[in-house]
Formats: sequence, C-alpha cells, structure tokens
Amino acid sequence: MKKYWLLIWAVVVATSGCLKGQDDPVFPSPDLTIPEDESITLQSALPFPIGAAVNNNLIRTRAPYRDVVIKELNSLTAENAMKFSQLHPAENTYTWTEADFLVEFARQNNKRVHGHTLIWYKNPPSWALNYQGDAAAWDRLLKNHVQTVVNHFKGKVVSWDVVNEAIAENGTLRDCIWLQKLGPEYISKSFIYAHEADPNALLFYNDYGHEYGPTKRNGILKLVNDLKAQGVPIHGIGLQMHTRYNMSNNNIADAINTAAATGLKVHIAEVEISMNPDNIQDLTYSAGLAAQQKAKYEFLVRTYNAIPKNQQFGITTWNVGDSDSWIRGEYNRPDWPLPFDDNYHRKAAYQGILDGVK
Ligand code: XIL
Repeated sequence: MKKYWLLIWAVVVATSGCLKGQDDPVFPSPDLTIPEDESITLQSALPFPIGAAVNNNLIRTRAPYRDVVIKELNSLTAENAMKFSQLHPAENTYTWTEADFLVEFARQNNKRVHGHTLIWYKNPPSWALNYQGDAAAWDRLLKNHVQTVVNHFKGKVVSWDVVNEAIAENGTLRDCIWLQKLGPEYISKSFIYAHEADPNALLFYNDYGHEYGPTKRNGILKLVNDLKAQGVPIHGIGLQMHTRYNMSNNNIADAINTAAATGLKVHIAEVEISMNPDNIQDLTYSAGLAAQQKAKYEFLVRTYNAIPKNQQFGITTWNVGDSDSWIRGEYNRPDWPLPFDDNYHRKAAYQGILDGVK
C-alpha cells in the first residue's frame, strides 16, 4: 500500500510541469534577481521619464505585472492597442475601447501616454490595403485616420509615433502601400495632419536599427533632417533599440549621439536587450549573461543621460518582464531581454539602469 502511494506521488511530481496554466512562463529564468529595496523605483531614481509598452490583458489579469507598471514606471505606450488595424478595423468603424482603457488606467495612475503608432507599413487593415481610389482619395483616407485618432486622444496622449519604420535596411524609403499610393510625401503629410489635429502633441519619427551602422541610420537621419528643413512639424526621433547583449557600445553611442545631433527630442522607444540573438533553443539564462546584460543596459542609460536634458524624452522598454516579451513569440526562442524576470522581480539589468545615472 505504501509503495502504491509513493508511485502516485512520483507520477504527480513528474507530470506537474504539464499542468501549468497558460499564463505560466515558457522559458522560466533561474533566480537571478537582485535584492528589492522598496525605497527605490525606476521612476523615482531616473532624471527622465521611464516607461514600457504595455498590454491591457496583462494589466487586467496579472497582478504582479500591474503592480510593477504602477510602481516603477511613469510613461506608457500601448503595445498594440493604438495601431491602425486595432483602432480602425473597417473604413467607417473606429474601435476605441481598448485604447481608452489604457488611457484611463494611465490617468488614474498618473502616467504619461505616448501614442504608438499612426502610420506603419506593417499594420494597415485589409480594407485599407484593398482600398480603391485615386491619390486624392488616398490622401483623404490618410488624413481621416490620422486626424480622427489624434483628435480622439487630444489632451490625453502627449506624443505620437506619427510614422513608424519608413526606412529600409539600405537607407532608402521602404516600399509600402502609403509610398505606392501617395509617394514620399505620405510622411510629411502624416506629420502635418497630426499637428493640425493636436498642435500640442509632440510628434516623433520612430524606427529601428540606428545602432546597426551608418547605412540605415544615415537614411533615417536624412529623412528627419529633411522634414525639419521643410518646416514639417516634427519634434522627436524614436530609436526603437531592439538590441542585443553583444551589440558594440560604439554602435549604441553612435545611434544615440547622432540622433541627439539633430536637435530633436530623443526617445529610446522600444528597448530590449536580447540575450539569445542566435536563436539557441536550449540556452539557459546564467549569472554571466545577466552581468553582460546589466553592463549593456548601464551603458545605454549612461550614454542617454549625457545628451542635453531638454532632448531626453525618456526611455521605454518593449514589454515589462521577460515572460511578456514579444521576442519569445516572435522568434520562438528562449530569451530574457528585459529588466524584470518572468515573475516581475528585478534583475541585474534593473541595477544596470540605476547605475547608468550615477
Ligand atoms: C509588436 C508587438 O509587440 C507584437 O505584439 C505585435 O504582434 C507586433 O508588433 N516595432 C514596433 C512595434 O514598432 O509596434 C512592434 O510591436 C515591435 C517592433
């Protein structure tokens, strides 16, 4: 009889991994957390705004996630809720519920909201992709979308990524529906329309890859400098900074400093530091990796903190903790790219961010 119970116990233990809930992390990190000093938070320690891309479902359902967002951050970006497809799924339909939820959560908790994103090659819904009309009709479509959205959030969303990822890897304008239908002016038009709808909103051009090297970066800088020279209302440049632990410090510094040299506000808008850029399926997070990640976050923050204060719009991480990072799903690999671990405890990377302003 005793043996029988032992067997049942053994089976339960052995299979408990299969009984995990769907919210459980797929790639749990080992406990590499740092001691939590309750008197310190990112938002109180940093001399510029600190934020994250957030997901409404996690705010609603995952208490430790919501608690970290409320406690640590003072700026929020909607991970998806303000994109074209989400807000404007049919020509005459706007769906505000999710984005409004986030804006109200931010208001209640005294957080700034950065709007992301009005025009992005990846996100037009099928009705827009299939839209039939001449250039004037496409211009109206663009204007209606931009102005309806900016107007809806006027006074609640302080800033917008007006155009996202318009430059290709070779530094030229990326082919997309907007370029095909409206020509290169789709970019300046988007800024002008957004500015008409909310003259107080800070308007950003947002892209990734500034730290890859000069080819793409020069294309981005030329675009924003041309917009400035034409008198287009552009106030900031967003460096997504989806980067990796082995990206060179020189490249990161060049990305930040050349952006600052435009004179525009600089937003590190979507940062994460991937620890598994080579997609190693059985990689595990280790103290050694954690230390490298800490050093990279520290360097990034130190460099950013050195640009002129009035250009520091803030730093935003893309997602909050490792278990909600889009990287795991996007690349189907274990990764630990954020300052909080799977359970929303502070990692060494968190300390690196704090050390970057010391
Ligand atoms: C990503 C979201 O994180 C995913 O949930 C979604 O499926 C695709 O978009 N650059 C951007 C962000 O500007 O909008 C992207 O967000 C990540 C890359």
